[in-house]
Amino acid sequence: MISLYRAIVICAISISLISTGCSSRTSDATVESAPAEAQSPPVQSPPLRSPDVVYVPTPPQVVERMLAIANVNQNDVLYDLGSGDGRIPITAVQQRGVRRAVGIDINPERISEANANAQQAGVTDRVRFLNQDLFQSNFSDATVVTLYLLPELNVKLRPQLLSQLKPGTRIVSHDFDMGEWKPEQTAQVEVDGRTHNVYFWTVPANPPANLR
Ligand SMILES: C[S@@+](CC[C@H](N)C(=O)[O-])C[C@H]1O[C@@H](n2cnc3c(N)ncnc32)[C@H](O)[C@@H]1O
Repeated sequence: MISLYRAIVICAISISLISTGCSSRTSDATVESAPAEAQSPPVQSPPLRSPDVVYVPTPPQVVERMLAIANVNQNDVLYDLGSGDGRIPITAVQQRGVRRAVGIDINPERISEANANAQQAGVTDRVRFLNQDLFQSNFSDATVVTLYLLPELNVKLRPQLLSQLKPGTRIVSHDFDMGEWKPEQTAQVEVDGRTHNVYFWTVPANPPANLR
């Protein structure tokens, strides 16, 4: 009877040691091997929800004009909201030397494409892509925000831009304005016979109530 009892106790202690060892090894590995990029989900993640706008890339000439009109430079932290294949954040690092660039896209396929492009461009130390809904995102550390969405999405996003962003933050939008919030500057870029519009705003210290 006593030996049966001892056998049960020894067995219980062994199981407990094995499971403790396993769980601590798992958590150590998770902590040690989790770079910033690991925040992006794997390719097979299901979409968060349908995108609000389909993917259409901004031509490189227009990307360059957007970065130029906002005077993007090495002191900046740039966010592209709806970042597609990552061309705007990647170009901001390559051509303008920004401190950091972040792309946010709801579509996990775009995120893995963007991560592959950043890898190929050798800029993964300064670019991050996050699989998030931009309407649920916090981009308050941005000094520059770039957009290529739709007119109604820009207007829907306006209160979030004005409440999250610091006064002085620059915003550039490809092709679409911001409704009642009139741009400070505009530019046109001709690409293959089509005119692309670029709009530029600066976040004011006290936005008027009708824009918030
Ligand atoms: C017109 S593309 C612009 C891509 C890139 N910014 C460029 O200019 O080349 C719009 C992107 O927004 C993404 N998108 C749509 N709705 C979104 C949402 N709610 N949150 C985050 N991304 C979204 C789409 O998946 C798509 O990649």
